[in-house]
Amino acid sequence: MWEYTDKVKDHFFNPRNVGEIENADGIGEVGSLACGDALKLTFKLDENGKIADAKFKTFGCASAIATSSVLTEMIKGMTIDQAAKVTNKDIADYLGGLPEQKMHCSVMGREALEAAIENYRTGGRKKHELEGKVVCTCFGVTENEIERVIRDNDLTTVEDVTNYCKAGGGCGGCKGEIEKIIERLQGDKVKAIAPAVPRKAGKLTNIRKIQLVQQTINEQIRPALRADGGDIELIDVEGNKVIVAFRGMCAQCKMAEFTMRDVVEAKLREFVADDLFVEEDKESAAQPHNHRK
Ligand code: FES
Repeated sequence: MWEYTDKVKDHFFNPRNVGEIENADGIGEVGSLACGDALKLTFKLDENGKIADAKFKTFGCASAIATSSVLTEMIKGMTIDQAAKVTNKDIADYLGGLPEQKMHCSVMGREALEAAIENYRTGGRKKHELEGKVVCTCFGVTENEIERVIRDNDLTTVEDVTNYCKAGGGCGGCKGEIEKIIERLQGDKVKAIAPAVPRKAGKLTNIRKIQLVQQTINEQIRPALRADGGDIELIDVEGNKVIVAFRGMCAQCKMAEFTMRDVVEAKLREFVADDLFVEEDKESAAQPHNHRK
C-alpha cells in the first residue's frame, strides 16, 4: 500500500478540471494505454497570454489522477514561459511529495504540459514526438528524457530512473545503458555515494554486516588474492572484529600481515564500515595447507 499525502488523496477523490477544453490553445497527449497510463492536457489563454483555463483527461492510478489535477491548478494564471519552466519535481512538491515508485506520474504531467506548449507554439496537433535515441524500448523512453529526469531530480541509481520514467522497469535490457548515462552525468556523486551506502555501520544489522563483509571479500579481495595463487576465507564476525583465514599461497606468505592490513582491512573499511578491524584465525594459521576450493 502506497503512503499518499492528504493533498494527493484530496486531488484523487476530488479531481479538479476534469475534461477537455473546446478550441483549446494548447493540447498535449502523452503516455499510452498499453503502458498503463495516458494523459491529455488542454489549456486556453486569456487576452494577456496567461493560462486562463486548463483541463485534463487521464487514464491511470491515483497518483496519475492527482498529479494531472494539481497540474491544471498550478498552471492557471501562468504565462507560457512560466509554465514551460515547471518541472516534475515542482508538481510532486506541490502535492507534498509522491512515493518514489510513483514519481513517473509527475514526469508524465510535465511531459503533457511540454507537449501542450509545443502544440501551442508550433500549431501542430499531433502527439508528443519522441526526441533523441530510444534507450528503453519497453516503455519508449529516450536518452533525452532519461537525462532530464536525472538532472531535474538529482538521481544516482537505475532504480531511481525506473521510478521516475519507467525506463528499465520492463525486460531490464536497457539497465546497462541507463547506468552509463548516470555515470556520465553524475559520475562524481555516484562515486561519493557508492561507498557511503554500506558505510552506515550504525544502522547495519549483524546479518547485513556479515553479508556485506562476505560480499566485499568475494568481489573486492578474493579476485586479487586468487590471481597470486592464494585465497581468503571468512571465519566469523564478532562486533567490529572480522576473523579471516588465508589459504593457499597466502597462508605461507611473509606478506600476510601486510595483506591483512593494507588490502583486507582497507577494503572492508571502505565498503562496509570504518571501524572494522581484521584478525587472522590462529587455528587456521597453524594449518596452512587446509586449502578449500
Ligand atoms: S528495454 Fe528498458 S526495460 Fe526493456
